[in-house]
Amino acid sequence: MAPTEVTPETLVGQLATRAPSTTRVFARHGIDFCCGGGVPLAQACARRELAVDDVIAEIQRELETPTGDVKSWEGAPLPDLIEHILTVYHRPLDEELPRLEAMARKVVSVHGDKDPERLGAMLETVLALKGELEPHMMKEENILFPMILSGQGAMAGGPVHVMRHEHDEAGAMLRRLREVTDDYTPPDGACNTWRALWHGLAELERSLHEHIHLENNVLFPAALDS
Ligand SMILES: [Fe+2]
Ligand SMILES: [Fe+2]
Repeated sequence: MAPTEVTPETLVGQLATRAPSTTRVFARHGIDFCCGGGVPLAQACARRELAVDDVIAEIQRELETPTGDVKSWEGAPLPDLIEHILTVYHRPLDEELPRLEAMARKVVSVHGDKDPERLGAMLETVLALKGELEPHMMKEENILFPMILSGQGAMAGGPVHVMRHEHDEAGAMLRRLREVTDDYTPPDGACNTWRALWHGLAELERSLHEHIHLENNVLFPAALDS
């Protein structure tokens, strides 16, 4: 995509699909390009209180920088894309979600009295997100992905609808986490576990945004169209 094609009206999800390196800019500013990907850049920037012209300039700089490591999956064979989603996003979460839960419980039990309301909301949201994602990935792995792999993707409208809805819910939980963690900024004097937790949650957001983007904006449309 030529840099000149990026305007305030360009859809965030479309940009992420056509020029995946732009997702770096989105991740830097907490712009949701997966569930919220159907909105124009101007609207996504307004939601995060960012100047759209500054973000476009940053996107153009990103597009002008040669990168070898951000692959566009648009048009890729679906089995390869599914394998990539499982290896890069699903399997690491098997370990990461329990690790984040344990750290969140520890921070609340040791420091909960320092900010009871927000730390309580953080733990509640981490538990809700884990409770949502674990069965969600199981449904993808046991029902939806096998349908797509066996060539029945065009008939997967029902499961895709359910998965999209669950993605929206996960997206809302990530927004809530960002809110109650001051954009993942640890308070002065936060202990190492607290810092590691905020860092882990920021990473979770980054990887989930990519993961859900690949499913919502690349895999699902291609499968339904197959
Ligand atoms: Fe997934
Ligand atoms: Fe998913």
